[in-house]
Amino acid sequence: MNILILGSGGREHALAWAIKQNPKCDRLICAPGNAGMDQIADCASLDILDGGAVRDFCMENAVDFVVIGPEAALVAGVADKLREAGILTFGPSQAAAELEASKAFTKEVCKAAGAPTAGYARFTNAKSARDYVLAQGAPIVVKADGLAAGKGVVVAMTRKQALDAVDNMFDGAFGDAGAEVVIEEFMEGEEASLFVLCHGETALSMGSAQDHKRVFEGDKGPNTGGMGAYSPAPILPASLEVKVMDQMIRPTLAEMARRGTPFQGMLFAGLMIKDGRARLVEYNVRFGDPECQVLCIRLGAQVLDLLLACAEDRLHETRVSFADDHAMTVVLATKGYPGAYEKGSEIKGLDALPSSSMQEVFHAGTALNDGQMQAIGGRVLNVTTRAESLGQARDLAYDLVDAIDWPEGFCRRDIGWRAL
Ligand code: AMP
Ligand code: GLY
Repeated sequence: MNILILGSGGREHALAWAIKQNPKCDRLICAPGNAGMDQIADCASLDILDGGAVRDFCMENAVDFVVIGPEAALVAGVADKLREAGILTFGPSQAAAELEASKAFTKEVCKAAGAPTAGYARFTNAKSARDYVLAQGAPIVVKADGLAAGKGVVVAMTRKQALDAVDNMFDGAFGDAGAEVVIEEFMEGEEASLFVLCHGETALSMGSAQDHKRVFEGDKGPNTGGMGAYSPAPILPASLEVKVMDQMIRPTLAEMARRGTPFQGMLFAGLMIKDGRARLVEYNVRFGDPECQVLCIRLGAQVLDLLLACAEDRLHETRVSFADDHAMTVVLATKGYPGAYEKGSEIKGLDALPSSSMQEVFHAGTALNDGQMQAIGGRVLNVTTRAESLGQARDLAYDLVDAIDWPEGFCRRDIGWRAL
């Protein structure tokens, strides 16, 4: 079959790498893709937020299956446009993507579903939000309702920080995303993520992972898209995963179906775990980046079978086959990220690295210019490995990192510290 992957990050390169290994894949196209994806697929320049343009492209290129990577395309309704045209698609409808696009919506769904999460209140004006903060005290969490590229959440340790965050959001710091503000109870614990393939009320776990959101070692510095990940997450053992599926995921799916907006695609549950109990921090409606990289290196070619089973509503007859292994990904980013950074520095040494089912460098912000591999983004490479133990996966990953000659790049040296 001919398969189109939408996106250009490390997540989409990892999906392309896994899908390409499956004999069902005849032609693989990535839009817009990156220099790494260009080595294993045809890259097409296409506005992936324009559902009509993506649909027309699929018609012209006889695309049989579309995998949508980023949330922006899902929130823009690209999956709806494709399914209306009869094109098999992995990813939720625009209405179901509200689970990521609106924090207030998610809280309402969780309440109706009885899914465990932090207590909350919603506000559309600063005065009542400020009064609530003053009544509740700190620590407390202030969130812009809409999509704010991961920056719309302030975990306030003092009342003053919380009040400043409220003022900031209602002053338009996040544009429309901050027109409504959700204020939540602060949850203590350790975070982990569960990735669940869903179609209607059927759910199948694709595994757990733990991300590293802060830019510097020791979880210091500003938040990023993610500086590294590993899978599985030992904080989320099978017994707890069963509870999360029964008490959180399935009730959420049932509530979405009851509302007439059933969910299909990847439901990514960000969890806060304490004393063997998990509560929801947030849902995302797509794979995590870089969490997808560790899931893909663990699952390999079966990723395509799983995504197809999800899109075709065959999850009830599908199994995920996990090896007893551990995977790690270390993100290399351009110095300055997540703030301002230079573009166009040369990366050397990638061609000399062996690639196998146990190790692969997934690209994100890269481009090939006049034969030179250049960094053109914040997060640039994802050095991803798999081994019998997490310690071995880590040693292998940092050996590969050290073989890459890119003075303008940096990474965290402590990925996996919680589990190791
Ligand atoms: P989100 O964008 O909702 O994932 O929030 C970003 C980060 O803020 C999460 O990964 C958590 O570390 C933190 N966070 C969000 N909500 C809470 C909460 N209710 N209690 C504690 N930390 C939170
Ligand atoms: N790595 C976190 C995310 O993809 O949202």
